[in-house]
Amino acid sequence: MSELLPLSRAARLVGVSRGQVQRKIKEGKLQTFEGMVRPADLLRAFPHKSLKTDDPNLKRVAEIRENAYGRRLRDTVLPDAEVLAARLKALSGELTGAIRQRNIYRDIIAGLRQQLADGGEPAADLLYWLERQLSTIGLPDDESGAIEIEDQLLRVMAAQVRLQPSGHDFFVEGQDSILDAALRAGLAMDYGCSNGNCGLCKGRILKGEVKKTRHHDFVIPEAEKSQGYVLLCSHTAVTDLLVEAEEAESASEMPRQEVRARVKRLELLGTQDAILHLQTPRNQRLRFLAGQSARLSARGEEAELGIASCPCDDRNLQFHLHRGENFADKALELHPNDYVDLVAPQGSFVLRDDSPRSLLFVAFGGGFARIKSLVEHAMSLDAAESMHLYWVATADTGHYLHNLCRSWDDALDDFHYRPVAADSALDPAKLAGDIATRQREFLDFDVFVCGPRELAEPLAAVMRDRGLPENQLRVEFSER
Ligand code: FES
Repeated sequence: MSELLPLSRAARLVGVSRGQVQRKIKEGKLQTFEGMVRPADLLRAFPHKSLKTDDPNLKRVAEIRENAYGRRLRDTVLPDAEVLAARLKALSGELTGAIRQRNIYRDIIAGLRQQLADGGEPAADLLYWLERQLSTIGLPDDESGAIEIEDQLLRVMAAQVRLQPSGHDFFVEGQDSILDAALRAGLAMDYGCSNGNCGLCKGRILKGEVKKTRHHDFVIPEAEKSQGYVLLCSHTAVTDLLVEAEEAESASEMPRQEVRARVKRLELLGTQDAILHLQTPRNQRLRFLAGQSARLSARGEEAELGIASCPCDDRNLQFHLHRGENFADKALELHPNDYVDLVAPQGSFVLRDDSPRSLLFVAFGGGFARIKSLVEHAMSLDAAESMHLYWVATADTGHYLHNLCRSWDDALDDFHYRPVAADSALDPAKLAGDIATRQREFLDFDVFVCGPRELAEPLAAVMRDRGLPENQLRVEFSER
């Protein structure tokens, strides 16, 4: 039975975000051993947390994430029978060994206790010392035993994958491919077709067992196969894995793509705003980073728009439209199954990879589109300690997705949403002052500001003046 838990699994077991586990580590309240934690230490750090996977908080967060990302509802969450059988076999072997070992230790300790008790006065100190040691470090007690069993159950339902060299980890659930699971976890994997044709998703299995889930046309040379290379889009994880695979480290590594997407639907939000939902072909998804934009053309008009959805759902794309703009007015005439041509991605308004800081987002008006993508991506990465969103209404655009932001705030303990009325935006110093007061300054945050230049730029300038380092500030200008 495993004694140490990777951080992602530990966070799942106690129903908190990985960022909250990392905060405990940073505060010195939770000890790590090469990035892993002990179950007993975890329980001491989160004594009030339930170990049950049906924890309502966990469920609420899972639900809101499902809604946020527009993921398919998974009615078939179980891995396929062969994968389940292989995982159960591996676990039953581990369990048998662990139980045997634990029983031996219990017997030895019981025997030792008895012998010391029989030894009378001369052995009393030693017996006292033994009892103290046992009460400090303890034989596995019921609670830490429970967390280990919970861990084993999770391992049946989901295999954990750790990537090299990044150290990122994620879970493969149900019948997902390794690639799909990584994308859903917000990782910027290297891939192309998602369909077994291009070979770009090739990764090397360093440890663990995989299973091919579909035929692929791309042929991996025998020499590479023997070294453990597989297509991550065509394999699932049977056991926990260690995988060597490429990930993009910056926006500039994203390849330029041309995709013809289909209109799925137009969602009207009041009289002025709408969401254009597009779907890419199954074998030509759009690879992008949250916060980037795309050039859209349809019906003779084109425009550069921020992508308002999460890269963790790379087939279903969203764009926000506002009546009165040339492209938006044309796009509002589109029907389901009409086509829109995309050239993407562009821009470097993206999350900082592996930054440990909390995130502060300030959206002005329609700048919310890119901010929404960043927020959803940060949720899927599950690494930020906390997230704070200020959405400033502008003369053009109100809080057209106010309920969505409220639902994030309600569902996630460490997400805080604050809508700001338009007049506050007119004085950037006052807005920055308000934010600084609420956040007890923002110098410890990674800050993302998106909106029309005349609003975003002055706010960024005030933040710089107040001492926010340049490498913690990203600013993007939007049309409205
Ligand atoms: S992404 Fe093209 S083969 Fe896997």
